[in-house]
Amino acid sequence: MRSKVKKIEGRSKSSKKCLFISDIHDGHINAVSTLHPYKKDGDYELKLNDDMQDVHYHWCKMLDEVGRLDFLCINGEPVEGEHRKTGGKGTWSNDILDQINDFKKLSNMIKYDSFALTIGSGYHITVGNSTSDDLVIEHLSRHGKNICEVNGKSVQNYFINVDINGKLFSITHHLRSSSIQSYRSTPAASEAAGLEFLRGKLYPHERDIDVIIRGHIHYYWQHDSGHQLVFVVPSWKLWDDFVLKKGLQGVLNHIGGLEIIVEPNGEIIWHKHLLEKYPIPTILSV
Ligand SMILES: [Fe+2]
Ligand SMILES: [Fe+2]
Repeated sequence: MRSKVKKIEGRSKSSKKCLFISDIHDGHINAVSTLHPYKKDGDYELKLNDDMQDVHYHWCKMLDEVGRLDFLCINGEPVEGEHRKTGGKGTWSNDILDQINDFKKLSNMIKYDSFALTIGSGYHITVGNSTSDDLVIEHLSRHGKNICEVNGKSVQNYFINVDINGKLFSITHHLRSSSIQSYRSTPAASEAAGLEFLRGKLYPHERDIDVIIRGHIHYYWQHDSGHQLVFVVPSWKLWDDFVLKKGLQGVLNHIGGLEIIVEPNGEIIWHKHLLEKYPIPTILSV
């Protein structure tokens, strides 16, 4: 995939380069962060272990490779959230402002002209009666245009239809999941089929959806039905206790982002920036 992107020479200036990232979960001990996330309560900086340093450097490498973007899509869950019910279990700080401050530093590394942020799962973004997304959007707006803002107001962004060089993208965070390996393609295929019933309701009757972008389930998936591409964008969290609920099969997720270029002639080129190395737990002995 990567070589296909790099081989194209003299690409027209009106090509649109996009990066889709999802489920970043900054704030969780197993998710991407800066090298030294700062926790206000106690006034200390955390030092990442080797595995999490690899995840951090993969974030940097991906952004070096993609360069400046026409469009950045954060498809839900930039931060982990407070985890109120469990007192912040699994987080390096359950203060969402610490998490957002760290995410701001990560996002400052991304160069983009425009962006969109879709809404993720409620328990990751709720802060009192508000959402952490508002603060994230405010920060992201300093570096590029929020395409979800019309006449100074943010429009709904649970799901968005975006035209990129004439290709229609359907983007939303959620997707049904399957922890059973042999059924991993089913949620993406089922979403593609289900969208046909929404023609004329959630998108114009006369348009076809060319690209479907989803997230939430933390593993990368892609399929091509000949006239339509479906991508499940990977995450930036290695694992947590939630994915262990169905046994170890759920743990196999992917770390990375998805770059898509739409050429003026409608050609769609993609490159999945996946972390190749997977941290293998140490074998213990008795
Ligand atoms: Fe997530
Ligand atoms: Fe989610």
